[in-house]
Amino acid sequence: MKKKVVLLGSTGSIGKQVLDVIDWNRDKYEIMGLSANTNIELLRQQIHKYRPEKVAVVDESKGRKLKRLLDGKTEVLIGNEGMEDIIDERADIIFISVVGITALKPVIKSIKLGKRIALANKEAIVTAGGIIKKLQREHNGEIIPVDSEHCAIFQCIRQEKQGNVERLILTASGGPFFGKTTKELMTVSVEEALKHPNWSMGKKITIDSATLMNKGLEIIEASWLFGVPWNKIDVVIHPQSIIHSMVEYIDKSIIAQLGVSDMRLPISFALGYPDRKINRVKRLDLVEVGKLEFFKPDRTTFKALDYAYKALQIGGTMPTVLNAANEVAVDLFLKRKIKFTEIYEIIEGQMKRHVPVFNPSIEDIINIDRQIRNNLL
Ligand SMILES: NC(=O)c1ccc[n+]([C@@H]2O[C@H](COP(=O)([O-])OP(=O)(O)OC[C@H]3O[C@@H](n4cnc5c(N)ncnc54)[C@H](OP(=O)(O)O)[C@@H]3O)[C@@H](O)[C@H]2O)c1
Repeated sequence: MKKKVVLLGSTGSIGKQVLDVIDWNRDKYEIMGLSANTNIELLRQQIHKYRPEKVAVVDESKGRKLKRLLDGKTEVLIGNEGMEDIIDERADIIFISVVGITALKPVIKSIKLGKRIALANKEAIVTAGGIIKKLQREHNGEIIPVDSEHCAIFQCIRQEKQGNVERLILTASGGPFFGKTTKELMTVSVEEALKHPNWSMGKKITIDSATLMNKGLEIIEASWLFGVPWNKIDVVIHPQSIIHSMVEYIDKSIIAQLGVSDMRLPISFALGYPDRKINRVKRLDLVEVGKLEFFKPDRTTFKALDYAYKALQIGGTMPTVLNAANEVAVDLFLKRKIKFTEIYEIIEGQMKRHVPVFNPSIEDIINIDRQIRNNLL
């Protein structure tokens, strides 16, 4: 029987690649629901091709416009709640590939339904990891990480006892500014920051890769997903992006997962798990790659790593502040309203002012997220 998939963020970089993988396996998966924020042109093409029962459009005027353009066979749900409403009990897999904290409520709903979540979004687990993991245990939900580093760790850790894990080693490409000084970073342009050396991704995560905040968010994400504390998670710069991450065990063995830089590999894994599906991803040719290099990250220049370690160590709502300040700062940088290095200043300023709430509820998290955004308006 075909697996039923609800795909949130179908018009994004990850969403489109999920549909590529589904195209390779049309006999195995069917699309029940899709979502977009504003890109109704692409969503309309996807509706035509996959014929989902329901779609959600977050932007209200775009949602109304799409309704007028369709033949009535696909129901269009509008606004933020629409993304929750298309998460259907009959679905087998909820694929969450929207960007930002907007994924939080859909993740909570999916986990409460005890569904398998293929989780590409990182901001939800960064801000509400404790709540999500608790609900996962209570409702027997399943989270299969799609972020390539976490998918790698998930694969390296599968048969092992938790107590045997000594540390997680996240690899980072270093982004477009690897080796630059703070002075040089002060004058980098939006175009330069958007030129990632190895991966083609959405704008927000591409800027996060340039500041190393992407790795910072991944440290917090890894801690929640794998139950490993902050001081057992290391980052190593690996410019070739061939080793997607590693796990060191108490006997000093290190297990790594390797592959080409193509997100369709972790997407295929998350859709097929526990099976592995034949796919059309390029085979890794290590001879062609030639060398694999490793460097220590420059945490003085790329301060995002230290902010993330600190937020994780403090806990409570501090990761929410880190994430919200970063989302706003990246948006301001993309709109050319601030310099690249001001992203760090904004995050540090908001974290310094924040008095964390411990064991926060979802409402606490949403309120603090809103408060940080208001502070920065
Ligand atoms: N791209 C990658 O290779 C990659 C790798 C690992 C993890 N991730 C994570 O996956 C997530 C998605 O990344 P991406 O690169 O695919 O982002 P993206 O290309 O910017 O796509 C984002 C998707 O979310 C939708 N969206 C944007 N703002 C929204 C809002 N306020 N409410 C609801 N939907 C909204 C977009 O709709 P519109 O198209 O209509 O704007 C689009 O469908 C992020 O959390 C990222 O960190 C991405």
